[in-house]
Amino acid sequence: MSKNIRKAVIPAAGYGTRFLPATKVIAKEMFPIIDTPTIDLIVREALDSGITEFLIIVSSSKNSIVDYFDRNLLLERVLLERGRMDDYKLITELPNKVNIHFVRQKEQLGLGHAVLQSRSFVGDEPFALLLGDDLYVGNNNVPVTEQLIKAYNEVNSSIIGTIYVDKKDVVKLGVCDFETNDTSNRIRKLKGVQEKPTIAEAKSQYAIGGRYILSPTIFKLLESQEKSIRNEIELTDAILRLMEIEDVYSCEIDGRRYDIGSRAGYIEAILDFALNRDELKEDVVELIKRKAEHL
Ligand code: G1P
Repeated sequence: MSKNIRKAVIPAAGYGTRFLPATKVIAKEMFPIIDTPTIDLIVREALDSGITEFLIIVSSSKNSIVDYFDRNLLLERVLLERGRMDDYKLITELPNKVNIHFVRQKEQLGLGHAVLQSRSFVGDEPFALLLGDDLYVGNNNVPVTEQLIKAYNEVNSSIIGTIYVDKKDVVKLGVCDFETNDTSNRIRKLKGVQEKPTIAEAKSQYAIGGRYILSPTIFKLLESQEKSIRNEIELTDAILRLMEIEDVYSCEIDGRRYDIGSRAGYIEAILDFALNRDELKEDVVELIKRKAEHL
């Protein structure tokens, strides 16, 4: 039975330990790519893909995310009084456009546990899941979530967005095991997934890219999911069990990925986004050239 994908879930409750000390007080999802928080860009990706209902999973220290998607009436008034209409538009556009719900993950027990908090929001329909550490710019202006929704509509089953990674990187990611080695089709049926395998164990170099369309059956499995050796309730482990009940497919993502959970990936994202902005490009190119001369 085909259903429209209307809902998106965005987990944002992690400690962000890879970005300490800043994450002691700043939610890593609020780290800006130049001037726009990463979570804003993730919400826009889903919005541009046709999603209408959003749930962000936060923790007690992430109130700034809730504030960000609320209106700030005082600032709005100041900007209006000063005639700063462009800035006014910048701060009111998203809060006025999107309907975002929030839920708190009361204990950080892993990604699977975070996703389980979205159960009553999602109900009995397939949904999109977007992880905040993976920022994408879809090729040909097709947002990655839209690509996966299209794939979902083709096969009518859960979809995992994949990216091809260096062998050395499989240890940091979830990895896909395919029914067939034929790479001519971007959509392939999976026979397994592994969470952070060793290089020797990894079944492929196709990693889980932080974008999913999942069947609501996942919640039943997450509820009974035991902790992994990393002491976390892993989403990947529940997806592996989902494959015993329903088909799960992968879809190779057509776009540029930035691993903004890593310092170098974050810097790269800022540079690329700057190079894509007319008002910044020239200055940034100059700056890069100047720096390169001194390397
Ligand atoms: C999570 C998932 C992993 C996936 C990764 C993508 O890992 O568990 O399967 O490959 O996101 O970013 P995490 O980065 O939370 O350790």
